[in-house]
Amino acid sequence: MQTKIRDILVTYALPYANGSLHLGHMVGLIQTDIWVRFLKMQGHRCFYICGCDSHGTPIMIQAEKTQTTPEILIQTIRTEHQHDLHDFLIHMENYHTTHSPENKTLVDAIFLSHQKKGNINRRTIKQAYDPEKNMFLPDRYIKGECPRCGAKDQYGDNCEVCGATYTTTELKNPYSTLSGAKPIEKESEHYFFKLQNYTEFLKKWTHAGHLQAEVSNKLDEWFKSGLEEWDISRDAPYFGFTIPGETQKYFYVWLDAPVGYLASFKNYCEKNPKVDFDFFWNKNSKAELYHFIGKDIIYFHSLFWPAILEGADFRTPTAIFTHGFLTIDGQKMSKSRGTFIKARTYLEQLSPEYLRYYIASKLSDKIEDIDINLDDFMLRVNADLVGKFVNIASRSASFLQKYFDNTLSKHLPEPELFKEFALAGKDIANKLEQREFSQAVRQIMTLADRANQYIDEKKPWSAIKDPSQQKNVHEICTMAINLFRLLMIYLKPLLPATAEKVEMFLNIAPLTWIDKDKPLLNHKINTFQPLAMRIDKKQIDALKSTTHETT
Ligand code: MSP
Ligand code: ZN
Repeated sequence: MQTKIRDILVTYALPYANGSLHLGHMVGLIQTDIWVRFLKMQGHRCFYICGCDSHGTPIMIQAEKTQTTPEILIQTIRTEHQHDLHDFLIHMENYHTTHSPENKTLVDAIFLSHQKKGNINRRTIKQAYDPEKNMFLPDRYIKGECPRCGAKDQYGDNCEVCGATYTTTELKNPYSTLSGAKPIEKESEHYFFKLQNYTEFLKKWTHAGHLQAEVSNKLDEWFKSGLEEWDISRDAPYFGFTIPGETQKYFYVWLDAPVGYLASFKNYCEKNPKVDFDFFWNKNSKAELYHFIGKDIIYFHSLFWPAILEGADFRTPTAIFTHGFLTIDGQKMSKSRGTFIKARTYLEQLSPEYLRYYIASKLSDKIEDIDINLDDFMLRVNADLVGKFVNIASRSASFLQKYFDNTLSKHLPEPELFKEFALAGKDIANKLEQREFSQAVRQIMTLADRANQYIDEKKPWSAIKDPSQQKNVHEICTMAINLFRLLMIYLKPLLPATAEKVEMFLNIAPLTWIDKDKPLLNHKINTFQPLAMRIDKKQIDALKSTTHETT
């Protein structure tokens, strides 16, 4: 059966260029990578696009602190991200940056088009200002005493001591964390995007199947309180793009960040002229566009972004897929608790595929948080990947090598069982497509149990002792290898490096999804090499202790 080849553009939220990737980032990056690899295995034309979000005050301040320029900082961090992504087997078509000429051109064009339509407003507002640093202060740089309990050094949204919530202006004895100075109020003219002009459009759009139900419901709360103008400018000093016609005013980082999706793809198309940018982004595009994001940035992606695109005459996303937050041992990742794990710290101890597998085994299409418990992680990986999956191959490969010249038999002894496994591939494909990864993993592992059970029943290790049983043993092992091969197809989006090793072992071309329909018979394979090592408790302990030390 020939399925239609789809054109699919997939993005993951652009990580900020002021810090290392951590395991929280990996949840969504891995989720997206698995989905894209799966779609590619189905034969679709699929592009995974991302990049660094390189603008904003924190990047400017971070550069200052480390005595470098923002340009150098974002380049260094981007290179570091690229290494981490590569080592986590995350394959992107492009990992660009929002501080790029492509982005500047697109942002200007989008802004001017909205201005022409009357969607941009200008008015003067009052804001906190640091008179020593001579800059306006975002809330995160102001601390003070809690207005309720008087606790010192609290941020302007909630008190860590008594739990009160309030606004920055309510803090007592406020001070700038940059200079220590007392903030003053200062006026300045800002640019605003009139989001309310898109109320009707958004009410429809957010209920037209582009969002998960939980997300649509959450957004209804915003409609109830009424959509308001969105402040899209920031005053100098700022690291970003200046607004056309201005020298001291910049676009707010959250305006140019999602435009970075287009810019990264544009940059990719320039390097790959066969891929047509307009085909994917024009108003009536037949291509599919998906944004994967974490739950903290729903508002930007599900309200502002579709409105910005709609008004600038670009196509809107086919869907936005939101995932939950990562917790470690049930707690938020936190440096002080020693549960903040950098992507690199993990990689120094453990294989990336183990985390890919574990995260997949927990993900669904919902926005629930997902938890890593390191001891459970070890048990799970050892039991499933080593104990069940790889075991099927290692148990049968030795007989094939020793007695049958590493050649598979001409027939399968139980074609029905093979068919059952191949048929399950349809179900598993549906689950992966629907982002029900944990269900897919469960079904694959049930099949792995079934394959091990088959070997247990046939007992090749005792049958081989009887010379009249030789042919049987040959077919039993061929059967087992074929079941293993199907499971490898299903797990390939999760375990791309293992898949490569298995392709080498089986002496076959890269596996694609339709390969599941035909068994591998009368075929010379290579000598089996170990595919996965058990996780040792020592590695887990080492990971735990390094996270405590480095934070
Ligand atoms: N730069 C913005 C996104 C701009 S997209 C046009 C941003 N950057 S971020 O580095 O803070 O986060 C990048 C992604 O990682 C987001 O999807 C965010 O939800 C996700 N996560 C960051 N910490 C996370 C966890 N602890 N757990 C799961 N995902 C988390 O937001
Ligand atoms: Zn308090």
